[in-house]
Amino acid sequence: MIYVAVLGYGTVGSGVVEVIEKNKDMVNKKSAAQLEIKYILDLRDFPGDPYEHKVVHDVNIILEDPEVSIVCETMGGVKPAYDFTRAALLKGKSVCTSNKELVASHGPELLQIAREHCCNYLFEASVGGGIPIIRPLNYSLTAEKLEAITGILNGTTNYILTKMEKEGADFAATLKKAQEKGYAERNPEADIEGYDACRKIAILSSLMTGQNVSYENIYTEGISRITADDFVYAKAAGKSIKLLAMSKDTPEGTLAMVSPCMISSENPLYMVSGVFNAVCVRGNMLGDSMYYGKGAGKLPTASAVVSDVVDCARHQGKTIMCFWNQEEAKLVDIGDVERGFFVRAKADSAADVEAAFPGAERIQVEGRSQDCGYFTKPMKEREFTARYEALGDKVLGRIRLEMV
Ligand code: HSE
Repeated sequence: MIYVAVLGYGTVGSGVVEVIEKNKDMVNKKSAAQLEIKYILDLRDFPGDPYEHKVVHDVNIILEDPEVSIVCETMGGVKPAYDFTRAALLKGKSVCTSNKELVASHGPELLQIAREHCCNYLFEASVGGGIPIIRPLNYSLTAEKLEAITGILNGTTNYILTKMEKEGADFAATLKKAQEKGYAERNPEADIEGYDACRKIAILSSLMTGQNVSYENIYTEGISRITADDFVYAKAAGKSIKLLAMSKDTPEGTLAMVSPCMISSENPLYMVSGVFNAVCVRGNMLGDSMYYGKGAGKLPTASAVVSDVVDCARHQGKTIMCFWNQEEAKLVDIGDVERGFFVRAKADSAADVEAAFPGAERIQVEGRSQDCGYFTKPMKEREFTARYEALGDKVLGRIRLEMV
């Protein structure tokens, strides 16, 4: 028998219990052991819940119980999840988590503690919800030199952008509707400003490089400045606008960033709509591969946590190798990156835009006279920004194009 404790009986935590119970036979068979949930830690009581008798309020009951060998941390946030995770690992208990904030901020330290105590710190659910992406990077693509990872890693923003694209609606109205339907949080900042995607790409970049990519150092821009007008030009040019989380290995270091980008219909991420997530990974032998599915939600996320529980059960007393050390990866200054931009400007400023960006291609939109839109030639971001800012209130917005 392998005893499991769940920390946090919220959406994901209750999903973990549900997955383990509903798929008991399969999960046990694949673990080659009987898994049993012994404790559920939460501040609240759950009268009438079938597992109410397993609910405890003191984490020490779990930490001091030598029978518990696997802990699922589904609390979210850094405090107190960090203290509980650290304490569990120090006692040799494996921890499986969906907590991207904690993995992104303390991943290498917690992995090191796991190594030193012959247990595991696994985090498949922290990126892409139910989509297997950590395990492919860690297990499957081991023959590859990973060159780039590009993903749509946030379902809320992809849902909002898809709605704006399909309905021609503006950002604020679409966000409000998404909140009413429960697709966006009451406080949507972490999603719409790109912070959630930033933590996820920090984790993927760290696994790509094997070094630590700190989320604080990743350039992050959200979607709150994207307008319905931008989509008119994107559509006319056969493109879409997506919030991309990107990481690329360059000779100068790692280029990691989160930003809305106008992408062409040839890009495999063009088709990723609504709450779905997808991650494209480029390896030097395999070329491109893509991982697609439900990036959030109770059961998809819980399924990924339970897949880690099964892995822990299969590797009792043994640490699964994870290529992520504490040394800081060298990041590239995005000012040095070369790419083209979409620029939207006031209708009477067309000549100024053409003078500032020689060779820019004007996007024709039938019957539109209130503004004008251009694709610039590729240039260093630093140079683009200087020229764009010099145009002052003549310009109405800009969006990055795919990298050259
Ligand atoms: N808020 C996240 C999203 C949930 O919208 O994708 C999963 O991390």
